[in-house]
Amino acid sequence: MDNFIAGLPKLELHLHIEGTLEPELMFAMASRNGVALPWPDVESLRAAYEFDCLQSFLDLYYRGASVLITEQDFFDLTWAYLERCAAEQVVHVEIFFDPQAHSVRGIPLATVLGGIERALQAGALAFGISWRLIMSFLRHLSEEAAFLTLREAEPFLERIHGIGLDSGELGNPPTKFAGVFAQARALGLPVVAHAGEEGPVSYIWQAINELQVRRIDHGVRCVDDPELLRYLSDTRLPLTVCPLSNTRLKVFAQMADHNVLQLLEQGLCVTINSDDPAYFGGYMAANFQALVAELGASREQLCRLSLNGVEASWLDLADKARLTREILCYAACHGVTLN
Ligand code: ADE
Ligand code: ZN
Repeated sequence: MDNFIAGLPKLELHLHIEGTLEPELMFAMASRNGVALPWPDVESLRAAYEFDCLQSFLDLYYRGASVLITEQDFFDLTWAYLERCAAEQVVHVEIFFDPQAHSVRGIPLATVLGGIERALQAGALAFGISWRLIMSFLRHLSEEAAFLTLREAEPFLERIHGIGLDSGELGNPPTKFAGVFAQARALGLPVVAHAGEEGPVSYIWQAINELQVRRIDHGVRCVDDPELLRYLSDTRLPLTVCPLSNTRLKVFAQMADHNVLQLLEQGLCVTINSDDPAYFGGYMAANFQALVAELGASREQLCRLSLNGVEASWLDLADKARLTREILCYAACHGVTLN
């Protein structure tokens, strides 16, 4: 099964690039940039990866991101992630970046975007990995701060493919950002939002009705509302689900409790993603493997999850058709029948 997962073409649609910062690279950047970290070494940093909720993770995540200073740092970070993608047959990525986590430290958007984009362009040439870039607003900050970030991004909007909403969910409902999301949509940007990770079903409805999202990031709390489940299966509005993240952040006590296969079987367009893989114990293949090991996912279900990734992506129709054929071909070659 591990070989089957390794070769299956996969698409990643929910990935925070700052969440791919492996401890070794974090320490290397801290050293070359003269940034002090509160851990003496890589081992004690890894030992701190015991989270009891989203906020306990975010505190560490922002501290880790503080080592990212130069354009080369953002390049190295993104390149390391793309090398992993290439090794795991991840063929398309739609990645988030958090400009406000860097602008508070005086790092210009041009530096952040320049490094990430240069790596993505190199990754397309070296590995054939296609990409989209999603600029996320930090929801624990004000809507005014998000407006300011959007204004600062205006010279770069040709290079940004969409807008997201992340960081601490509880107490920061989507409604808080209705104005700035309306402006982003008016600028022609598609929008997504984290909702229903720790927050209630009402946040998912708000993201749909007030932010007019194209996808929900996480959304696993949708099981609490039968009407929402019906809506999601009727419309096929995608949920980008992150199984290892959800267990590490105690959204589910254990992987055996995860609802992603149940949602898949109810006809929802759920996809599998790694969220912050350096912090949560694995990249795309590890997430697929966990579904097999803990939930008994079949090869057919894994293929359908990958096909959902194609459907939920922002690729154009020709690329969607090509990747759909690739996955169907892979399934057929391995004797997997898809209805
Ligand atoms: N930022 C990085 N990872 C996140 C997550 N899982 N939820 C919300 N904000 C995040
Ligand atoms: Zn996320």
